[in-house]
Amino acid sequence: MSDDSRPSPTGVRTAVVIPAAGRGVRLGPGAPKALRTLNGTPMLIHAVRAMAASRAVSLVIVVAPSDGAAEVKSLLDAHALPERTDILVVPGGDTRQESVRLGLDALPPEYGIVLVHDAARPLVPVDTVDAVIEAVLEGAPAVVPALPLADTVKEVEPAGASGPEPVLATPDRSRLRAVQTPQGFDRATLIRAHETVTDNVTDDASMVEQLGLQVVAVPGHEEAFKVTRPLDLVLAEAVLARRRLTDGF
Ligand code: CTP
Ligand code: MG
Repeated sequence: MSDDSRPSPTGVRTAVVIPAAGRGVRLGPGAPKALRTLNGTPMLIHAVRAMAASRAVSLVIVVAPSDGAAEVKSLLDAHALPERTDILVVPGGDTRQESVRLGLDALPPEYGIVLVHDAARPLVPVDTVDAVIEAVLEGAPAVVPALPLADTVKEVEPAGASGPEPVLATPDRSRLRAVQTPQGFDRATLIRAHETVTDNVTDDASMVEQLGLQVVAVPGHEEAFKVTRPLDLVLAEAVLARRRLTDGF
């Protein structure tokens, strides 16, 4: 097999938009989250490598902090990435949704499949990426990787930080899934969703749901967890250490 980037067997090319423009408020003070390091390498570089590991992915669009596009470009230049993968960097916006839209604005016309992947999920395995792409190739307009929940979930009446919150309901856990990224889309569907839906959402697939289209879930992976709070940094470095032991990487 040559190392060239190539369209899938059906001739459809895949690009990934990586929103990386968040500050990482919940992680605490420091550099923007995507630029914080895991074992010495910025989280964003891990995330770009995770996407470029898929042979189906031929373009990665990184959405950088709005004042950090130059810094992100030089970081990407300084780290080894597969040659088959093209990289674009664009400045992001005030919300994740806005950042993804700015990334989509930079998407060249020849890409029929688009994945959206949080920079904050730096360790997603390539098999998960490929499973999402495969499901889009098989005809799903929107695909999310998802896992069953470990915790029981309660719906409450939010009371802020102030006091006990009345519990309203306990949804049947067996019907719930925690949703990860990369989420995969037929290009036209994702662009239409971003043009149409203006509500605040926390993922892209929910915009496609609002268009009335069927979103499907494929198995996610525990290593695709989102680095959100300080403890997640500890877990991420532990996962990298385990990989080094088992893969010699
Ligand atoms: N993101 C973005 N643009 C924003 C906000 C978020 O590109 N204006 C990106 C983040 O960089 C991250 C992904 O969206 O890769 C998921 O967001 P989240 O985990 O919430 O990251 P932050 O918004 O940076 O974290 P926090 O909410 O704790 O500030
Ligand atoms: Mg956020």
